[in-house]
Amino acid sequence: MQRRGGKELRELFVNFWQQKGSHHYPSFSLIPDDPSLLFTIAGMVPFKAYYLGIRAPEYPHAVTCQKCVRTNDIENVGRTARHHTFFEMLGNFAWGSYFKKEAIVWGWEFLTEVVGLEPHRLYASVYQDDEEAFGAWHSLVGLPEARILRFGQEENYWFMGEEGPCGPCSEIYYDRGENYGCSSPTCGVGCDCDRFMEIWNLVFTQYDRQKNGSLSPLPRSNIDTGMGLERLTSIVQGVDTDYETDLFMPLIEYTCKKAGIRYGGNSANAGNKNDMAVRVIADHARSVAFMLADGVLPANDGPGYVLRRLLRRAARYGRLLGFEGGFLREYVPILIDVMGDPYRELAEHRLTIEEIIDVEESRFEKTLMQGTDLFDAEAARLKSSGGAKLLPGDVAFALYDTYGFPLELTLEMAAEQGISVDRKGFEEAMEAQRQRARSKSKQKKSSLSGDVYTDLENELPATVFTGYSQCRGRARILALLTGEGRGEKGEPGKDCELVLDATPFYAERGGEVGDTGRIFAEDAEVTMEVMDVVPHGPLITHRVKPDGVVKVGMEVRCEVDDRRRGAIRRNHTATHLLHEALGRVLGGHVRQAGSLVTDRILRFDFTHHSPLSGEHIAEVERVVNEQILANVALEVTECGRDEARQRGAKALFDEKYGDVVRVVAVPGFSTELCGGLHVRATGDIGLFKIVREESVGSGTRRISALTGMNTLELLQHTSLLIARLTGALSAEESNLLAKAEALLDENRQLQRQLQEIRVKELTRNTDSAFEEKEVGGILLQTGKFSQIAPETLREIGDKAKARRTPTVVVLASLVDQNCHLAVMADDAAVKKGANAGAIVKETSALLGGRGGGRPNMAQGGGKDLARLDEALLQIESLLMKQLQK
Ligand code: ALA
Repeated sequence: MQRRGGKELRELFVNFWQQKGSHHYPSFSLIPDDPSLLFTIAGMVPFKAYYLGIRAPEYPHAVTCQKCVRTNDIENVGRTARHHTFFEMLGNFAWGSYFKKEAIVWGWEFLTEVVGLEPHRLYASVYQDDEEAFGAWHSLVGLPEARILRFGQEENYWFMGEEGPCGPCSEIYYDRGENYGCSSPTCGVGCDCDRFMEIWNLVFTQYDRQKNGSLSPLPRSNIDTGMGLERLTSIVQGVDTDYETDLFMPLIEYTCKKAGIRYGGNSANAGNKNDMAVRVIADHARSVAFMLADGVLPANDGPGYVLRRLLRRAARYGRLLGFEGGFLREYVPILIDVMGDPYRELAEHRLTIEEIIDVEESRFEKTLMQGTDLFDAEAARLKSSGGAKLLPGDVAFALYDTYGFPLELTLEMAAEQGISVDRKGFEEAMEAQRQRARSKSKQKKSSLSGDVYTDLENELPATVFTGYSQCRGRARILALLTGEGRGEKGEPGKDCELVLDATPFYAERGGEVGDTGRIFAEDAEVTMEVMDVVPHGPLITHRVKPDGVVKVGMEVRCEVDDRRRGAIRRNHTATHLLHEALGRVLGGHVRQAGSLVTDRILRFDFTHHSPLSGEHIAEVERVVNEQILANVALEVTECGRDEARQRGAKALFDEKYGDVVRVVAVPGFSTELCGGLHVRATGDIGLFKIVREESVGSGTRRISALTGMNTLELLQHTSLLIARLTGALSAEESNLLAKAEALLDENRQLQRQLQEIRVKELTRNTDSAFEEKEVGGILLQTGKFSQIAPETLREIGDKAKARRTPTVVVLASLVDQNCHLAVMADDAAVKKGANAGAIVKETSALLGGRGGGRPNMAQGGGKDLARLDEALLQIESLLMKQLQK
């Protein structure tokens, strides 16, 4: 068999199926357009709708080499030489065009004729009663019956997940020879040992598994196949494991060189921890880089959490190899070398990938050591205690919450030490923290316990929300809550909460604040200010302050403050425009991380790794305002969730949307799932202006912006400020900056002149500026000044020195909370033994600072001003001692 590289095999596969008429799609993203999956786990995932018959295929059959991530077994990655998180799946797919016979015959042709595997080493398995597949292997391929095995559902049925496309399958195995066998008498195809490698899975996708587990037939008979490129490469290259192929070796060699070790290819059980670390880093570097290239960012849930877990696990193994500081970014260029063709996204997003790795690694680096120390201490305590080896839940939680250790990492570290983890305790600590967070946020809204609302939810019909189209409406009070709980009436001047049968008031949700306004009862005899509108499940409660008595059962009239609501609408639609504009300007990795929409401001949090430049901000503003000026009418529709996804609607990760969703679109620009209030057309928004851009945690930025009248107010305020400044500085707007700079400059010059004048004054009158004393035949001159810079002190000192000889001059100057000290001795004094350096050194120490210099000139100082007089006083005796020596 000809030896070939991984890259060549990838190309051979694609070319082969193209020759069979299949359309070649480049790999789809690792993030599937499918809420049932976190990652693309197989080549067929992007085509799910074709299998289910929801969409008509663009081509009757296709071929891909698909980037995949599987996360079910992360702890074993590295431990064995077989597991990976990231891998490439070679696959051919057919939707009602070719079926079993072609898939089998062509598959065989590829392996034996194109790749050149020896036919006598190949075996096939089929689903127990799949005579058609058996027949194809036997009579069309010519495989002897003994080399075709029949297996049950466990081995030969493939399911995409709990629900979705599935079907019986046929697998192709490669016999690597007796040397790899386990020498058990029953060793054969299906044995767990390394001899018979399963290389290709051909799935005959004919069913759709339902929630209840039943299988309903699909409209067509389909083909879905998957062959791991890494495994095929290992066989073609004749190496023991995937890690030894040319797809991995450059990564492994780099690690070994950096750590100064050799890779032995041993499993962790065989006792070589280094080999394991080397594999962990190689695998996780691939996953991390490819996830980042596809726009995943580190997070505490969803795909971002998996990314964080892998990155932190790799960081820990790097430490075990002795790596210091961030190192994972060093693998990006190697990956680009190995896989940059065909995966151009690696090079395209290289800077982003490297930067985010840096940020995330350095964040974890700070706590990895401390966390490890905490863990080690606990582990040692458990081991010496002789009791149950159970790591307490609150320790695991502290590691998670304070030190950033994903629980899985703690579990793995514990397992290494033969310790288990109190997972229940961990969950409890986590839940307790959630409760604390929740009660904190609830306190602001209401002092009533959640039970009251739960009871109401069970009893009352859902509140009908009429506010999408109306600002006013009549309703009836169904229930009333006072500070004490459920009641029949509310008193004048006292807050209470109302539940109505219908309301135009929008309840705070999805980052948008609730409406305010007024509710009138008894033909406007009673007026209630509406202060807060909050959802409780299907109910909406209105916190009001009535000026008269209100009772359950009363008819009321609602009036939303529509000026305020207009401002909220503008900010909300602008938020959608901003979201889309950020994606277009900064790149596809931008995802919403949170938002706040009020009548005053809009705030949008999103995933991005570095501060936005001035140009970026200006460009985002331009894109948003361009959409506003185009005055595009919004389209708000309701449809099924799948349809919304097909229309490319953006949705928040965690948000639970119902089956019917509301889609808010600015046609031609943005589409989002959203339940909020919006303008009729983008022109209603008025001018959009970003006022602030800041960081809110790792990899997340926040933009605050204004629209409508708020922008006008900002402009008015700014113009007024400028007008006042030009007035105060007697400048024109056009030269305001130059004028301000000139003033600052002038100010600096004046300061300098002032210093000079003060020096002159002080030195003209040196007699009065210094205290004088004879010490051992030397004149000791001591001067205390304030606000004199150290350079100027020296100047003064020179003048004083010139007055008499021999002399020692001591100068102290208080500047703010500091005392600068300078001591000078003339030549005659130095000859007599005076040493300025030693004097400054000791005196500065007394002042709690440092200093020193030469015998004739030294400087220093300190901050302990209370000791200044004492310090100056002791100079006399210091000098005396120097002279006596
Ligand atoms: N979808 C099939 C698998 O992942 C081919 O094995």
